[in-house]
Amino acid sequence: MAVKNAMTADFLRSAYGGESMAHMRYLHWGDLAEKDGFPNIAKLFRAIAYAEQVHAGNHFNELKDQKGDYTVTAGAVFGIGTVVENLQGAINGELHEVEQMYPVYLEAAKFQDEKGAQRSFHFALEAEKIHAQLFSDAQKAAKEGKDMQLEAVYICPVCGHTVLDNAPDKCPVCGAKKEMYKKF
Ligand SMILES: [Fe+2]
Ligand SMILES: [Fe+2]
Repeated sequence: MAVKNAMTADFLRSAYGGESMAHMRYLHWGDLAEKDGFPNIAKLFRAIAYAEQVHAGNHFNELKDQKGDYTVTAGAVFGIGTVVENLQGAINGELHEVEQMYPVYLEAAKFQDEKGAQRSFHFALEAEKIHAQLFSDAQKAAKEGKDMQLEAVYICPVCGHTVLDNAPDKCPVCGAKKEMYKKF
């Protein structure tokens, strides 16, 4: 499916920009968490970086017929601090997406009857809710000077659904099979 309306296309480009930057930011903060002695929080950052890549890829795919150069305005969180501070930046970014950005983009896509964009925004919105919670759990541990307790992080490569320790038989958001999940 490809997007037809200019407003939804703008929102897809902005979301693509935001997800792309979140991807890079989480890889960077992940490396810093590793250096600071929080390997599980580093793993969480790297896994969620991949989920943001999945979202960016979905948005990019919806824009496949909108060829050309664009200047993209997108929200991004900046700053380097302690692992607790970096996690706060991550929480803030995720909450912005959950409470402001994706609900508005999703409603616009519904109003403009853009089925593909609705799917792409819906997938991202559902995953970002989980990301906000997981980063918040990680921050709770880090505030006590502890690493997060986890065995592995699993990401659905279709929608970015994120889950700790065991992948479900079927993705609750998009229906992808357990075997498809990428393990971190
Ligand atoms: Fe996220
Ligand atoms: Fe999924």
